[in-house]
Amino acid sequence: MMGVIHAGYRLLLGPSWSRVAPARLEAAVGDRVVLVTGASSGIGAGTAELLAGAGAHVLLAARRLDRLQGLADRITASGGRATAYGVDLADPEAVDQLVADVLADHGRVDVVVSNAGKSIRRSLAATEGRFHDVTRTDSVNYLGPARLLSGLLPGMRARGAGHVVNVSSLNVDLPVAQWAGYSASKAAFETWLRCVAPEVRRDGVRVTSIHFPLVHTEMSAPTYDARLPGLTVEAAAEVIGRALVHRPRLLVPWWVRPVALAASVAQGPYEAVQAQVLRWSR
Ligand SMILES: NC(=O)c1ccc[n+]([C@@H]2O[C@H](COP(=O)([O-])OP(=O)(O)OC[C@H]3O[C@@H](n4cnc5c(N)ncnc54)[C@H](OP(=O)(O)O)[C@@H]3O)[C@@H](O)[C@H]2O)c1
Repeated sequence: MMGVIHAGYRLLLGPSWSRVAPARLEAAVGDRVVLVTGASSGIGAGTAELLAGAGAHVLLAARRLDRLQGLADRITASGGRATAYGVDLADPEAVDQLVADVLADHGRVDVVVSNAGKSIRRSLAATEGRFHDVTRTDSVNYLGPARLLSGLLPGMRARGAGHVVNVSSLNVDLPVAQWAGYSASKAAFETWLRCVAPEVRRDGVRVTSIHFPLVHTEMSAPTYDARLPGLTVEAAAEVIGRALVHRPRLLVPWWVRPVALAASVAQGPYEAVQAQVLRWSR
C-alpha cells in the first residue's frame, strides 16, 4: 500500500523528476570535479555516491568529518574517487579555507551541488530569546553558500564552464506559518542566485535550483512522519543527477507554480486559512 502511495507521489511531481539513463549522467559528470556540500548524510551523501558511481571525482564537505571519510573510503573501495573536507559553513574563515584547499588540491571545481542546510521549524513565539537560531540558519543556508560560490565561480567563469545546483525547498514558493527562519534563508540564497545566474551564464556557467518537496532524511524525521508520502534519498539524488544532465534553471513540481500564483494573488485568504488551522491545532 505504501509503495502505491509513494509511486503516486512521484507521478504528482511530473516527468522532469524522473531518473536519467546512467550513460547520460556519466557523460555529464564523468571526470568532473564535483563539490557536494552536506555530503555527510541524506540527500548530499546519496548524491555523492550516485555521482562518484558515474565517474565524477566527488569532494565531500560538511562538519562531521568522520562520516565524510567513511563515505569517501566506501567510494574509493568501489573504484571511485572521493576526497573529504571538514567545514562549518557558518564560519566565514572556514569557508574561505575550503575554497583555498579544494583549488590547491584539485586545481578546479567543475560543479557545485550546494546542498548543506539547516532546517528549523519554529513559531514566532517560540523564537523569543532564541534569535541566534535565525542568524545561524541564515549563515548555513545563505551566507555560507554565497561565500563559497563567490570563491569558486571566478574559476568557472575564467574557464567558460561550470554548473551550480542549489538544493532548495518548496518553502521558497509557498512560505507557511512557523517556517519563517528556514524559508527566509532559503529564499535569500535563491534571490542571490537569481541575480548572479545571468552574470555567470554570460561566461558559460549555469545555475539550477531544485525546490524539493518532502524527502525522508535525518532532517525531516523529527517533523514529518516516515509514513507521509515523500521522496527517498536515492530518488532525490536521481533528481539532482537529472538536473546535472539537463541543466534547467528551475525544477519545481508542475503544480507548484499555479498554486504559488494563486497564493500570492489571494495572499490575505491564504494567510487567513493558515491562521484558522493554527487556531484549530492549538
Ligand atoms: N529533507 C527534506 O524534506 C528537504 C526538503 C527540501 C529541501 N531540503 C534541503 O535538502 C538539503 C539536504 O538536507 P537533508 O534533508 O539531506 O538533511 P540532512 O541529512 O540533515 O543533511 C544536511 C547536511 O547539511 C550539513 N550541514 C548542516 N549544517 C552545516 C554546517 N554548518 N556546515 C556544513 N554543513 C552543514 C550536514 O552535515 P554536518 O551535520 O556533518 O555538518 C548534512 O550533511 C538541505 O539544504 C535542505 O534544506 C530538504
